[in-house]
Parts: sequence; structure tokens; C-alpha cells
Amino acid sequence: MTTREVLRMGDARLLRQAEEVHVFDTAELRELLRDMRDTMHAKDGVGLAAPQIGVNLAVVIFGVDQNPRYPDAEVVPQTVLINPVLTPLSEEMEDGWEGCLSLPGMRGLVPRYTHLRYQGCDEFGALIDRTVSGFHARVVQHECDHLDGVLYPMRILDMKDFGFSDVMHSGAEVRDE
Ligand code: NI
Repeated sequence: MTTREVLRMGDARLLRQAEEVHVFDTAELRELLRDMRDTMHAKDGVGLAAPQIGVNLAVVIFGVDQNPRYPDAEVVPQTVLINPVLTPLSEEMEDGWEGCLSLPGMRGLVPRYTHLRYQGCDEFGALIDRTVSGFHARVVQHECDHLDGVLYPMRILDMKDFGFSDVMHSGAEVRDE
């Protein structure tokens, strides 16, 4: 088990444009993904982007299993997504509370596209092409923003909807991405 330090907002390495992966199924990529999974699970996150552990590659992981602690949470398949391309399928957006492992203890209300197509590759280079909505679409947008150097507070429309989780009363349970 190798958990890596998660960079926190303010670190310039979180603001870079990530580089595309050109070679798949390598020992380096397997090691990166293992470290990302270990780190995400150790911190009980639902997603993690490689730049969050200081690796500037277009690699994200995410997934939400059935969890008795979050009975109302939508299940999202455990996914490795490399070199993603996102295409909103309508202009419709919805607000939702988000947290991020790079901003521990904080949450904010963020508008995201409701319906989305995403394409990319898995760790073996096999194509992924999915059409999703709701929470699944939100998680993908949050993670892929990390690859463009964008953190969720940069998308909050009203900064009154941003603060410390243990102080705010939004009602919803928020897990970090
Ligand atoms: Ni995040």
C-alpha cells in the first residue's frame, strides 16, 4: 500500500495543463494507478486526478460503490480514464455540493453540466465512450477539471456557498474528489 501526499490548493503544480499519455499498459502507468487507488481509498475519496499527487499526466480515477454509510449515493463504476474528452450533451446545468482532497474539510456549491458524453482510454489503451448524467457526470467534470488546472472553487458562482464542511449546513453528505 503506497499512499502519496495529496497536493493542496495553492500549490502551483495543481494549476498546470496535464500532458497526454502516449504509451499504455506500462509498469510506470500501473504503479501510478496503484498509488492513485491506494491514496483515494485511504482518504475515502470518490475520485482522484494524477496532478493531485504531483504527476502531470491526463489520468483520472473515480468510482462509487454501494456503501451503507451513503445509502442515497448514486453508484458510479470504478473507472480509469486517460486522455479524456468531455462533450456536454445539452446546455442544462445543475448545482451540487462538492469536496476535493486538495481542499480538505471544505465544500462548495458548483454548477455542472447535467448530461455529458465522455471519451478516453483505460489503462490498456482500450477506448471508453460513455453517456452519463447526474452525479456520474459531476464526478467526471470535477476530475477532468484537475487536468486543466481548475479546482472547484474556481467554478463557484456565489462564494457564500463555500466554506468548511463542519460549519456549513447544506444537508447533503459530501465526499471528496
Ligand atoms: Ni478534486
